[in-house]
Amino acid sequence: MDAKTTIIADAEVTARVEALIERMSLAEKIGQLTQIGGADWVRGPKPEEIIRKGGAGSVLWLNDTQKFNALQKIAVEESPSKIPLLFALDVIHGYRTIFPVPLAMAASWDPVVVEQAQAVAAREARAAGLHWTFGPMLDIARDARWGRIVEGAGEDPCLGAAMAAAQVRGFQGEYLGAPDRVIACAKHFAGYGASDGGRDYDPVYLPEGQLRNVYFPPFEAAVKAGVGTFMSAYMDLNDVPATGNRWLLRDILRDEWGFQGFVVSDAFAVASLVTQGFARDGRDAAGRALRAGVDMDMASSTYLEHLAGLVEDGTLKMAEIDAAVRRILAIKVRLGLFEQPYTDEAKLAQVLAQPEHRQAARRAAQRSMVLLRNEGQLLPLAKNFRHVAVIGPLADSKEATEGSWMVFGHTPAAVTVLDGIRAKLPDAQVEYAPGPEIQRDIPSFFDTMNPNFKAVTQPPDAAEAAFQTAIATARRAEVIVMVLGENANMAGEAASRASLDLPGRQEELLRAVMALGKPVVLVLLNGRPLSINWAAENVPAIIEAWEPGTEGGHAVADILFGDANPGGKLPVAFPRQGSHAPLYYARNLTHSPEGSQMYNPRYWDGLPAPLYPFGFGLSYTTFSITDLKVSAAQVKVGDSVTVTASVTNTGSVAGDEVVQLYIHQRFGSDSRPMRELKGFERLTLNPGESRTVTFELGPEQLKYWSTNAGEWVQDATVIDLWVGSDSLATLHADLVVVR
Ligand code: BGC
Repeated sequence: MDAKTTIIADAEVTARVEALIERMSLAEKIGQLTQIGGADWVRGPKPEEIIRKGGAGSVLWLNDTQKFNALQKIAVEESPSKIPLLFALDVIHGYRTIFPVPLAMAASWDPVVVEQAQAVAAREARAAGLHWTFGPMLDIARDARWGRIVEGAGEDPCLGAAMAAAQVRGFQGEYLGAPDRVIACAKHFAGYGASDGGRDYDPVYLPEGQLRNVYFPPFEAAVKAGVGTFMSAYMDLNDVPATGNRWLLRDILRDEWGFQGFVVSDAFAVASLVTQGFARDGRDAAGRALRAGVDMDMASSTYLEHLAGLVEDGTLKMAEIDAAVRRILAIKVRLGLFEQPYTDEAKLAQVLAQPEHRQAARRAAQRSMVLLRNEGQLLPLAKNFRHVAVIGPLADSKEATEGSWMVFGHTPAAVTVLDGIRAKLPDAQVEYAPGPEIQRDIPSFFDTMNPNFKAVTQPPDAAEAAFQTAIATARRAEVIVMVLGENANMAGEAASRASLDLPGRQEELLRAVMALGKPVVLVLLNGRPLSINWAAENVPAIIEAWEPGTEGGHAVADILFGDANPGGKLPVAFPRQGSHAPLYYARNLTHSPEGSQMYNPRYWDGLPAPLYPFGFGLSYTTFSITDLKVSAAQVKVGDSVTVTASVTNTGSVAGDEVVQLYIHQRFGSDSRPMRELKGFERLTLNPGESRTVTFELGPEQLKYWSTNAGEWVQDATVIDLWVGSDSLATLHADLVVVR
């Protein structure tokens, strides 16, 4: 059957939803607004009991196809309204075949690869019986201390918006309800990445201009891409919790952007309105969250307990409940859930076993990796080394390879860097020594939910012995690959940190290995920027491999030995220390800009310039970018120009360059950032090959929310343009904009 024929027309959706609403009791309606946890650790009545009574429209934190079918049977056959359940889970970067973490995928600067990744994730998740994923995570993160930076696309709204749209397309396909896809959820709306001090959940203070110009664009891009659902954030935004924030959830999301789907709260966030000192009690929280625009209560049961009372005493109108129910039912109808509520248990194994899923994961990982340093062209390594040492606590860690958001366990099939190198060099002696283990100083609440988690109890003398063994192992080898960084539980939710240094004794080990005088390559596995200042000066070759997913070890080996040429670029700057965060390239100019006579260093105890700038990444080849041309020297407000530049591979191997366009507005209604990304394109070029890249620059790119004017403006001004290979690009042109 042609997949397209399953699109259900809007009028039919409306008619079916209205017919359902008409025959539903208030209790049944409130059930549809309730999402319950299916995990064993969830307290309270069992899901079966709640579902049988019609008390749930959706279940999360469950990952068991048989159980999905069993619960669905109760909903469809025994519950009063017989409305099927929506099954939801955090499928953030893969279901069984794990792709690089989202921050890594953003480093590919390749929306096509990201769309393909999330399409594979959707196919696997849907085959398992899931209908809905809590992704993409679209929070702009400019503070590397914030643990959840790993889940998003980094610091930039232009890159973030491109990644947002790509992920929505990947998860959902061409329309809501497309076969082998899931409903996506744009989260966490909004501003969560700007928490004070990078501390997870702390309050956020962002003026409207910052929200609209920086933090909203990925969310708006998701709406334009047709995202089915939104999730409200946990924290207070300008003293109003995001989950009780009518301005966000109605004025912006629905009235301005025209979002038609439904909004779910973050987990327990409706109940947290009380904890946060906003709502008086659960009843007040339920009423205010619903009024603000939260259609579905995730896991807190506050709606289940209180909404009926609020309708009965007239505080809420039935029409307000109905509006929320309609939005949820519409998604269920579009998904085809009423026709096909169950999942074919036999199909899952076939879908998960598909080799092209692993191939896609390997390619995505290759394309995500960023070459940070390559002195003396140490990389790529020759394949004829006879004796290689692979050293470091993450070298054989499946957890660090697959990364965060794996609460349901890491796949035994994950290929570590050690595995990847061994597979690449079957005839060489590849020795491994982990060195001392690393751990968080304070464990995470989520560690207790991770079946793979084991607390490290390595006593100091065992750590010292491991350190010495690592040195001895390195001493015997011709070349050493150090695999250092952060464990999977060191980034993600509740995983912020004050320092960005390599945790534990890793830098000490790196220094000791470097002192052996042998060729050393550093492979970083981590979910956030790290202040690797010493390594940046002293280790000749450094690959940022992030948390690269199931095929990560193969992809690292492909890069190390030249079967793939790194072409990723940093989606976020690397600060020299944690206390420099937030540090981002798109800052406004000051009265004492760098290079001016009035220049004053921003700190007297260390340069705040990033260790590696936004957009940075090297290749095994070299590129030149020349011939910047603007189609007109002057345009009128509202008109567009074409910006072109010529890119040539000037080296001796094929490789990828990400050509980036930045602008700065010299004067206008407001001060604007000294640079802002406005376009990018990743190209593959053979040695000697040239290509012209073309960017459109018009009102969409030049307008901004003016604090001074209180509205969107495009100024008559002069625009500086730069095109180049990172945010420090120097190839420059001007564009005059007149009225
Ligand atoms: C996180 C969300 C996630 C939800 C459900 C919350 O703790 O903030 O990102 O989707 O849990 O697992």
